[in-house]
Amino acid sequence: MKNGLQRFERVAIVGAGRVGATCAYALLLKRLASEIVLICASPEHAEGEAMDLNHGMLFTNPAKIWAGDYQDCAQAGIVVLAAGVAQQPGESRMDLLKRNVALFQEIVPRIVQYTRDAILIVVTNPVDVLTHVTWEISGLPASQVIGSGTVLDTVRFRYLLSQQFHVEPRSVHAFVIGEHGDSQVVVWSLANIAGIRLDDYARLNGETLNPETKAWIADNTRSAAYEVIRRKGATFYAIAAGVVRIVEAITHNENSVLTVSSRIKSFVGMNSVCLSLPSVVNRQGIVRVLNLPLAEEEQAALENSARTIGEAIGSLGVHHG
Ligand SMILES: NC(=O)c1ccc[n+]([C@@H]2O[C@H](COP(=O)([O-])OP(=O)(O)OC[C@H]3O[C@@H](n4cnc5c(N)ncnc54)[C@H](O)[C@@H]3O)[C@@H](O)[C@H]2O)c1
Repeated sequence: MKNGLQRFERVAIVGAGRVGATCAYALLLKRLASEIVLICASPEHAEGEAMDLNHGMLFTNPAKIWAGDYQDCAQAGIVVLAAGVAQQPGESRMDLLKRNVALFQEIVPRIVQYTRDAILIVVTNPVDVLTHVTWEISGLPASQVIGSGTVLDTVRFRYLLSQQFHVEPRSVHAFVIGEHGDSQVVVWSLANIAGIRLDDYARLNGETLNPETKAWIADNTRSAAYEVIRRKGATFYAIAAGVVRIVEAITHNENSVLTVSSRIKSFVGMNSVCLSLPSVVNRQGIVRVLNLPLAEEEQAALENSARTIGEAIGSLGVHHG
């Protein structure tokens, strides 16, 4: 890298709003970057965030944090895209489509003008469509364009299961796939605790998992963002923790399995669609998307989810390869 920087020392964050700034804070606390640059449509806001983050450095971790410009992406190993409008109470993620696509048509070329080496992590909603748009506009290999996808829905699902079964979320293995949105698919058939399928776990360990409880957990996983936004106007802590987890898997070359969104070729009659499936993430980005032994109804729901995203991509009228 230029400037003597190691590849993943610098993380650039485009959009220094609630999500972007919280990502910066979480990266700092986890000591995952020695340089964090905030790039925003409001440079003054980015400056304020950088100042605030810098002031706390004595208690957090040493790093260089500043409000910068697109040229600072040149030395970044990772660029997080968190710019754009967020949902208002009652709005779905798809309601944001046109506004945020227009914004990405402006942002993505400016990033790739300075780097074609960085891994791009897309967070802005609707994240699957924007991951596709980013892949398309950037011309980067699909492995380098990662959407945060259902990473967040997966942790919500695991959290709710952890409460139901009185174990901590890391001890529950389960995931949500498909769209980060209303058509997401909760995969019950592969969910387990200590390798024990949930129905068996409940039966053998004095817990309950009846159809009503399952429906409640799936609904609450799906509607979590609406509920948070209704109460506090936005969600940003859990997503920032999720983005930092993706950054960690990349920078530490972990081969971690995460439910991130990426370009899937030739799926349900579509050339190309971005959606989340458990995927292996390391310093190359997404190196493998796992094939899953889904139950029949889960496979059908995944295909429906793919069509929902595909229709949204199609409505943009851009060609995809
Ligand atoms: N993927 C997920 O799981 C997830 C979770 C939460 C939020 N989000 C999404 O993240 C996005 C950001 O949410 P937020 O709450 O931080 O919003 P916010 O309004 O607080 O911040 C958005 C920021 O983007 C900046 N911005 C706007 N246009 C820009 C441009 N052209 N170039 C650079 N910066 C620009 C704004 O100045 C603002 O600082 C939203 O789309 C939201 O829906 C995604």
